[in-house]
Amino acid sequence: MIDFKEKVIELISNEVDFLSKDDISNTVEIPPSHEMGDYAFPVFRLSKTFKKAPNLISEDLVSKIGDSEYFEKIENVGPYINFFIDDSRLVGTVMDEIKNKGDKYGASKLGKDKTVIVEFSSPNIAKPFHIGHIRTTVIGNSLYKIYKFLGFDTIAINHLGDYGTQFGMLISAFKKWGNKEVIESDPIRELLKLYVKYNAEMKKNKKLKESARYWFRELENKNQEAVELWQWIKEISLQEFNKVYDMLNTEFDSFAGESFYSDKMEDVVEELKDKDLLEKSDGAYIVNLDKYDMPPALIKKSDGSTLYTTRDIAAAFYRKKTYDFYKNIYVVASQQNLHFKQWMKVIEVMGYDWAKDCIHVPFGMVSLEDGTLSTREGRVVFLEDVLNKAIEKTLEIIDSRNPDLRNKEQVARQVGIGAVIFQELFNQKIKDYVFSWDRTLSFDGETGPYVQYTHARTNSLLERGNFNIDDEIDYSLLQSEEEINIIRLIYNFPGIIIDSMEKNEPYFITRHIVEIAKAFNKFYTSSKIIGDDEEIKKARLMLTYSTKTVIKIGLGLLGIEAPNKM
Ligand code: ARG
Repeated sequence: MIDFKEKVIELISNEVDFLSKDDISNTVEIPPSHEMGDYAFPVFRLSKTFKKAPNLISEDLVSKIGDSEYFEKIENVGPYINFFIDDSRLVGTVMDEIKNKGDKYGASKLGKDKTVIVEFSSPNIAKPFHIGHIRTTVIGNSLYKIYKFLGFDTIAINHLGDYGTQFGMLISAFKKWGNKEVIESDPIRELLKLYVKYNAEMKKNKKLKESARYWFRELENKNQEAVELWQWIKEISLQEFNKVYDMLNTEFDSFAGESFYSDKMEDVVEELKDKDLLEKSDGAYIVNLDKYDMPPALIKKSDGSTLYTTRDIAAAFYRKKTYDFYKNIYVVASQQNLHFKQWMKVIEVMGYDWAKDCIHVPFGMVSLEDGTLSTREGRVVFLEDVLNKAIEKTLEIIDSRNPDLRNKEQVARQVGIGAVIFQELFNQKIKDYVFSWDRTLSFDGETGPYVQYTHARTNSLLERGNFNIDDEIDYSLLQSEEEINIIRLIYNFPGIIIDSMEKNEPYFITRHIVEIAKAFNKFYTSSKIIGDDEEIKKARLMLTYSTKTVIKIGLGLLGIEAPNKM
């Protein structure tokens, strides 16, 4: 595909030899509105050398550049040089690219031979997989797909919270009040009941706290009873989590969770000692981070048990050794910002420059309309319930609008779940938000179902018009503003995928496919796609096909399916 930005850079660099191409590239802007062109080059930085007022420089440069076959118009407006892409060139190159690459449009080898780890979801076993986990799960899943599409070797890791003092609590609670059969009938809810009860009782009874500590230590010491109970808890929890992962089409390459590092932490402790970084404080071992304006990183508690932080450090070393990652990404809530800063700093002061390749990708908090989520107090919304409710509601809608649809159940699943994922990925991930059933289950406006519906519409047009991609197609028939608008968005799509990757922000893709869907629907209402003129029909169907292809790729990168009929 023609890289029009590259052409802009060439034209400028021919006239301005003291700026490198990279410099020019970083200066080129995309104007906020299309009336100002597809690209703009502000000339401010040239005024020192040229010793002229910026608007005179731009005027002068425009006349020197002259005409270019790639641009319809190159003009100066004040200190800017604006470049307008030649429409017929644009249409030709985009359509050819879609025809050649199909569902690989926008894919690349950018990440060749580079391994990217995306760690996401990472719920704590024996606890509900709730609405607070949806963000890490869908953001992580999408980033994983985006990196893969750009040619990186990708590893999806679920760093299960399967270790820590809370398992001491659970084991102790089970021994006191537990019943295997009851728990297996509804594992997470029953385990949660035990956990909540234990927490409440613990406030009144100090002995329970001790007992929980005792059982966690026994687990660390590989006491058979403790290990078996813990393994069983892990198994039944994973069975529950996997139901949700199936629904969300999420797969992991590794489930190495916290417990996996239980025998890999001593090395970390030793190395910290050797490097003189470990300090004793109140009987515990810490790494002092005063110099970096951070509270100390807790490495080992006074009773000898290790901590969350220590496990993360051990995990990072393990990943470096095992995967030699280019990036090691953690999709974890912003509440843990400090935790990640601390342990990454520890690795840095240990002298490892790959600490900089460990990247925390934070996201904002989800709260409920009636307050914050609290597992301990049992105030949770189960993710599985949200997804099931979305499917149910979708089925109702299908039953009222399109009762004869084939595979209704399957489509309801694709659309209902798609709606939930889409809404999660529609806003900048760092923003906090309040979970609302109404918003999640609304299918109007800029929603997943709207985009999926547009995709289904393109599909039925292609079927109805007997579209054949191998027909001879005259692209020059695509000239209307509505048509060019779609093509421009399609042209920009590969760059949007790269932006999403660089900023670890899938929502750029979400917004872009909404724009494409809107542009297509505008075109659909303003123009007859399947009309009497055979040549126009073919060209418009090619545009329809291109739209379908890009929407499907975009939805796929978000982890959303694109049914052909709905
Ligand atoms: N299990 C933790 C939680 O639910 C999240 C783990 C995040 N990942 C990590 N490497 N610390 O809060």
